[in-house]
Amino acid sequence: MSTHSAMTFIVQPGGKLQGSLRVSGDKSISHRSIMLGSIAEGVTEVSGFLEGEDSLATLQAFRDMGVQIEGPHQGRVIIHGVGLHGLKTSAKPLDLGNSGTSMRLLAGLLSGQAFDVTMIGDASLSKRPMRRVTEPLALMGAKVETTEAGTPPLHVHGGQSLRGIDYVMPVASAQVKSCLLLAGLYADGPTCVTEPAPTRDHTERMLQGFGYPVRVQGATACVEPGGKLTATAIDVPADISSATFFMVGAAIAPDSDVTLQHVGINPTRIGVINILRLMGADIALSNEREVGGEPVADIRVRYRPLKGIVIPEEQVPLAIDEFPALFVAAACAEGETILTGAHELRVKESDRIQVMADGLQALGVDAQPTEDGMVIQGGQIGSATVQSHGDHRIAMSFAMAALRASGPITIEDCANVNTSFPGFVELAAGTGLKITQQQ
Ligand code: S3P
Repeated sequence: MSTHSAMTFIVQPGGKLQGSLRVSGDKSISHRSIMLGSIAEGVTEVSGFLEGEDSLATLQAFRDMGVQIEGPHQGRVIIHGVGLHGLKTSAKPLDLGNSGTSMRLLAGLLSGQAFDVTMIGDASLSKRPMRRVTEPLALMGAKVETTEAGTPPLHVHGGQSLRGIDYVMPVASAQVKSCLLLAGLYADGPTCVTEPAPTRDHTERMLQGFGYPVRVQGATACVEPGGKLTATAIDVPADISSATFFMVGAAIAPDSDVTLQHVGINPTRIGVINILRLMGADIALSNEREVGGEPVADIRVRYRPLKGIVIPEEQVPLAIDEFPALFVAAACAEGETILTGAHELRVKESDRIQVMADGLQALGVDAQPTEDGMVIQGGQIGSATVQSHGDHRIAMSFAMAALRASGPITIEDCANVNTSFPGFVELAAGTGLKITQQQ
């Protein structure tokens, strides 16, 4: 994708968050709307699409494979589906930028095509583990090559006949589950994936929304070949992972009162609400409804002092993207917060355990990283320059930490905030965060 120029956030200390706002569209659902809309029959209309770099990388990949896609224009995208077998070979490698979701889900979908494809990514994505998808895909008869280290680029050899498998995932990963279910659309028999703990189920829900049956029984989801996807309308809710920064900001800054509108509250995504409530946060849901098979609500968060907790391990996959922000909440809570069972955080866009511990320590917080989590003593947040290591969620989390800091926080390498949350700075500033950016 684009090469980024340096971007620095400078956030002055103190203040409070107030107002009612809608954050940008859900990243996971936006990716899937392009993927499934492209292989559906007919014209799919998407509203609320996230115009962030990650979901735009998915959109461009499908354009490169011959799909006619109009937009995005103010969150509206129109996809002229080509059916399960209508994708065409791309003249160039598919560049998926920073987006692990794009690459892992496409590895499955593209294993079932008649043509070869190469997928590349940026420096961060090029370090991320891909064997978690290539190994089970190989069991299905797919041929997907990685580097010797098991990292991108990925070369997918088309024209293979895929077998359906029964796969028990060693890690709780929605990306792996989704990859295999998408490959399963092209297999010769049923493909079943069993997860060790519940993970986001947007793929299963959206396949059903496109009229493609998915059998879900307990921890196992199965698809059978031979069906087709029929175009539909998709209303993408606001992303709870983006709402998280405002939820944590309001929870830690005295006198805050923020309402986040139309946020997706799929039960596989609400770990952040559960964990913040356990810490004592004042969170109220209202206007609960369902749009296009996904539950949504308005979420109001008012300041109330937080206390440290032992985070229940079963909440970890349900809040997997929210820990950078939750670590900031823990740093502002009274007492100790302990996270375990979260080794996956080490292989996200950055090593989120190490990078958050380094930044919190630079800010004077007692934050001890462990192999699979962190131990944080709540206390005063100081003033420092911290590194986001190009990780969007690290950058936005430290921005919110300034609400309780004793002096300014400077955050470096923030351009990738645009991968998931374009407009973050303007929205945060409009809500009360004293944030400016410098290029
Ligand atoms: C995602 C799944 C999660 C999450 C990522 C998006 C998805 O990754 O961290 O941001 O859209 O399926 P894992 O499946 O690796 O946990």
